[in-house]
This record gives sequence, C-alpha cells and structure tokens, in this order.
Amino acid sequence: MDSIHIHGGVCLQGKVRIQGSKNAALPVLAATILTKGINLIHNCPKIADVYLMLELLRSLGCVVSWEEDGVRVDARNAAPNKMPVSAIKGMRSSLCLLGALLGEAGEVAMEYPGGCVIGERPIDLHLAAFRSLGAEFREENGIIYGNAGKGLMGAHIDMPRSSVGATENTVLAAVSAEGVTVLTGAAREPEVETLCKYLCRCGAQIEGIGTDRLVIVGGRRLSGTEFGVPADRIVAGTYLLACLGTGGAVLLEDAPVSHMEAVVSFACRMGAECQEAQEGLYVQAPGRLLSCDRLTTEIYPGFPTDLQSVALVVMTAAEGKCLIEETIFENRFRILEPLRRMGGKVRLIDAGKAEVEGPVFLNGTETEAWELRGGAALVTAGLMADGETIVKGCDYIDRGYENICRDLRELGARIYRV
Ligand code: UD1
Repeated sequence: MDSIHIHGGVCLQGKVRIQGSKNAALPVLAATILTKGINLIHNCPKIADVYLMLELLRSLGCVVSWEEDGVRVDARNAAPNKMPVSAIKGMRSSLCLLGALLGEAGEVAMEYPGGCVIGERPIDLHLAAFRSLGAEFREENGIIYGNAGKGLMGAHIDMPRSSVGATENTVLAAVSAEGVTVLTGAAREPEVETLCKYLCRCGAQIEGIGTDRLVIVGGRRLSGTEFGVPADRIVAGTYLLACLGTGGAVLLEDAPVSHMEAVVSFACRMGAECQEAQEGLYVQAPGRLLSCDRLTTEIYPGFPTDLQSVALVVMTAAEGKCLIEETIFENRFRILEPLRRMGGKVRLIDAGKAEVEGPVFLNGTETEAWELRGGAALVTAGLMADGETIVKGCDYIDRGYENICRDLRELGARIYRV
C-alpha cells in the first residue's frame, strides 16, 4: 500500500478546485438503477468508493463509462435481481443499493455491510423502515435476505433517530412502493436533498425536500437524466481547516459555502476571515489561532462528525483549551494516540469527549491511517508538523479524496505519494 510523505511547516497558499461530493454521488449512482434509462452524472468524484459502486452497477447489468463530462450509466438492461451477495460487503454506502433493489427486484440478499472503523454502525433503522413498507427479513450465516412480497406499499414512517443512510434508503424504496410514504424524522443533510432532487428530475414526486418531513408519492415511472453532483463540503472543510492549521490564505474554488455554515463559523471563532465569492470561498488564517471552549459534532446543519478529527488536529495549534464532543459516532478519537506521539497535548475524557490544549508545535513522525477521515486528519497534522511525516494506509484516504497530494501541492504543500 502506498504512503504519503509530507515535509511540513509550509503555509498553504493559492487556490484549489473542490471535487464532487462522495456522499452525494453514491446514493445518486445507486438510484440510477431505478430509472431503466440513460443517466449522465456530472462532477462525479474519481474515488475508490465511486469505482466500487460503478462495479456493483455493472454487476447488475448497467453499462457504465466515464465520459469527458461525467459518468454515464445506462440502466436500460439492468437486472436488479442479479446482485452478487458478497458485493455489498466492504463499502457501507453500497447499503443504499438495498432500498433501490428491494423496490426494483423485490428480493435482496447481502452480507452485513462493512465501512469505516468508527463504531458499531448498525442498520436497524434501515431494516425497520423497509419493514414498514412491507418487506420481510431473515438472517442466516451472516447473510441478510430481504423480500418485498407482492411489492412494497407506502406507509407512515417515523425515524426515531436521524440517519442519513436510512433516510436515503427509505426514499429509494418508497419511490418504487405503491402509494404515498410520509417519512418524519428524516435526515436533512444536503446529500439527502441532492438524492431527492435527482429522483424528481427522473420523474419522482417528493415533497418537503430539505426538511425532516418527506412525502413521497411512489409507483411513478422514472426515466434517466443528466444531473450534476455538488462539490464536497467535507473535502472543502478539510482544506479550509488545513489552511488554518498551517496559517495561510486559500481560495476553495466551487466550495459549497451554503452547506458549510458550521465549519465557517468555527473557523471564524478561531480568528479566520472567510469570505464567500462567486468562485468559491476565500479563507485567511489569523496570525495566532484562538481556541474555542467547546466543539460539538451534530447532525446537519451542526458541525459535521466527518471533520471532527481534522478540527481536533488544528486545535493543537490554538491558544487555550478546547473540549471536543463527538455525538454521532463512538470510537472516533483514534487520532489522539498518533497526535500525542507528534507532541499534541490531547487527552481522552470519555468515549465521547476529548480535550486539546494548545498551542504546541507538532513533530513529524511515521503514522498509519485506519479510516478515511482519520487519515485526512493525519495528513493535516503532517502539514502542520516540523520535519517529515509519513502517513501509511493511503487506501483509506483514496476512498474519499480524489488526489489529496495533488490538491495540497496546488496550495504549495510539500507532499508526495510513494
Ligand atoms: C453518512 C455519511 C458519513 C457521515 C454520516 C453522519 C455517507 C456515505 N456517509 O453515514 O460520511 O459521517 O452520514 O453524517 O453518506 N445508526 C443506527 N442505526 C441505523 C443507522 C444509523 O443506530 O440503522 C446510527 C449510527 O450508528 C450513527 C448515527 O445513527 O451513530 C448516524 O448515522 P448515519 O447518519 O446513518 O450515518 P451513515 O448514513 O452511515
């Protein structure tokens, strides 16, 4: 497996274009199977998780090709009942094929889904929603078998907890169900909104888009369409925070600023100047980073859990103490150990809380990524550190970043993949 070598201590300067959103692209690609038509998805990021999803679509009979202006998915001859059981293992987001397949094929079989090493990540909310729509499930030898009987029926579903994936899956199943589904407690993350907009473009009827109450009129015939995936708010947030950590000034071209309010307001609390412009987001780091007392991850529009580890790294350079609270996933403080080895004053308070005390100068070291966002946090630590940092386990970072080395080199960083 490749590793990333970073010679830290360079202020990030210049501009970089932000890639398309991973979390928006994946459910849209899964949804193409419902269209039985030709789709052209623009701005699809070229990342490992997308390649895997495209492989899954191919195994379901779709003809997939990369064009100059996006990825083309021809689902006219898709055979949704041909899903290989093992295919869904290894990428949690392939789970959203389940909703599409249940509605389309009426039957699914899958291994328990994998994903990042961040907590248990159960799928009870997904299964409960499918059951409300009339599906039945049984588990045998680690394989889940789902059956939609004579077809899914619209229902009133109230999600007891906010879940992005379960909301997307419910929407994907409900567009194929007969009748109306009312989904309350729906996740309001921008990626859910993107999926709903794509489905409506294909002919679905969904009301309440962007709110926590979605009304889906199922059973409408969907056709293929052209659609643009928005820029990735987490990638943009990573580079924004890296700019703060290294003390620089950058333009994040195409950054989806309206979806980044919590991150921008966090950066401003640390003393940064952020300015929205037509071409994207300008960020100017302050001479001296200020700490903030507390940073809590929350569901959208709160501070995203996917940027928690990167923010924690940047806090080591800020003056004062900060309490970081993780409320979405357990097991998301693994960054503390490598950070401590780099000289960070960080401590775990309990499973959901950590404290960072700054400012300290980090020292380069050899580290290894264990999941996608933790990997991006290690790269950020390397950019801030004196000397050389080596981040092994690049495959995890490739799952979500098209080319983190290329992007950061455009901002002047000395970073190479070996
Ligand atoms: C999605 C994102 C991920 C992001 C997360 C939270 C994708 C591909 N991934 O993941 O990057 O970090 O949203 O914004 O879009 N839960 C249950 N039962 C379930 C489902 C979820 O208890 O059936 C719990 C999870 O363990 C977690 C919380 O609900 O504690 C939120 O998870 P969820 O919003 O479902 O995250 P994902 O969709 O997996």
